[in-house]
Amino acid sequence: MKGLILSGGAGTRLRPITHTSAKQLVPVANKPVLFYGLEAMQAAGITQVGIVVGETRAEIEAAVGDGGRFGLEVTYLPQEAPLGLAHAVLIAEEFLDDEPFVMYLGDNLLKEGIAPFVRAFEQSAPDALILLQKVNDPSSYGIAELDGARVKRLVEKPPEPRSDLALVGVYLFTPAVFASVKAIAPSPRGELEITDAIQHMIDRGLRVEPHTVTGWWKDTGKLEDMLEANRLILGTIERDLRGEATDCTLEGAVQIGAGSVLERCTVRGPVVIGERCRLSDTYVGPYTAISDGVVVEQAEIEHSIILENSRICRLGARMADSLIGRDCVIAHSDALPVAYRFMVGDSSQIGIL
Ligand code: G1P
Repeated sequence: MKGLILSGGAGTRLRPITHTSAKQLVPVANKPVLFYGLEAMQAAGITQVGIVVGETRAEIEAAVGDGGRFGLEVTYLPQEAPLGLAHAVLIAEEFLDDEPFVMYLGDNLLKEGIAPFVRAFEQSAPDALILLQKVNDPSSYGIAELDGARVKRLVEKPPEPRSDLALVGVYLFTPAVFASVKAIAPSPRGELEITDAIQHMIDRGLRVEPHTVTGWWKDTGKLEDMLEANRLILGTIERDLRGEATDCTLEGAVQIGAGSVLERCTVRGPVVIGERCRLSDTYVGPYTAISDGVVVEQAEIEHSIILENSRICRLGARMADSLIGRDCVIAHSDALPVAYRFMVGDSSQIGIL
């Protein structure tokens, strides 16, 4: 069995972060989302993985390399334009070489990984196996209508959904899928939809088996989901202190990376702080992930993700529910006139008091 991870796409719902970075490399609990997928492949016993890449290819390649450190052999499969998930399958045909495969959307995160589903696929040998979970906003996903244990209909992001069972971004296929991805036409949004390809398999009388995902699942394509994924992963960490903490109160599951220095701080876990950070006179509340090289002075932060080398100083109010990119500065200014001063990139969002 081979693996296919999709790591293209524009990530429009995570702008401005995705103006400069691939959405699959935004860290959850200080680890890029994509790495969780790669680890899940390895844990399921898959070694040959193709990664479909688009405009952000160089960045993905720099982060993942040849896959050796994940115990994988990675092949990069360039997709010239984001023409849909079924198009990604089409361009991977040669790499997949008539083997069954698991396709994994690189911004998805599943608590139980994929091993149980790979086993189920091997045992019951359907033509395709799809994973489903109930969601509150079904019009944002591919949706499945079931008839008992049989999949009746799949619809991509229906405006008026007839079910709340969403397609999770992990699919298992036999090579029978190729005839279907070749037969379908682009959807109104101009993409070859995997949802339509699977529907085509059903219409041809092939066996498409649904499995419900019971553990949590997150598609990290939007800020709220990213923060929730961060919360879910941080909920599983253990205390691990490598940096220095002087005159600090560290409560619960707190991780501090090597070379980081904390002075007069209260940190209430679960919190992960990367390497070479400097925090002073600061409160860090639950569900916060601070990447390497971040500086925080006289501030209160919680339920947030802060990327590398940003600096946050004397905020005057608590910062919460935030995603801060790399090399950002958010600081109190004593300059007159008393004013907010912004230099903010395209598609940024700022909530002020
Ligand atoms: C894609 C699929 C959709 C699926 C979702 C899961 O949507 O098209 O069917 O439910 O992934 O994450 P996207 O998030 O790419 O819009």
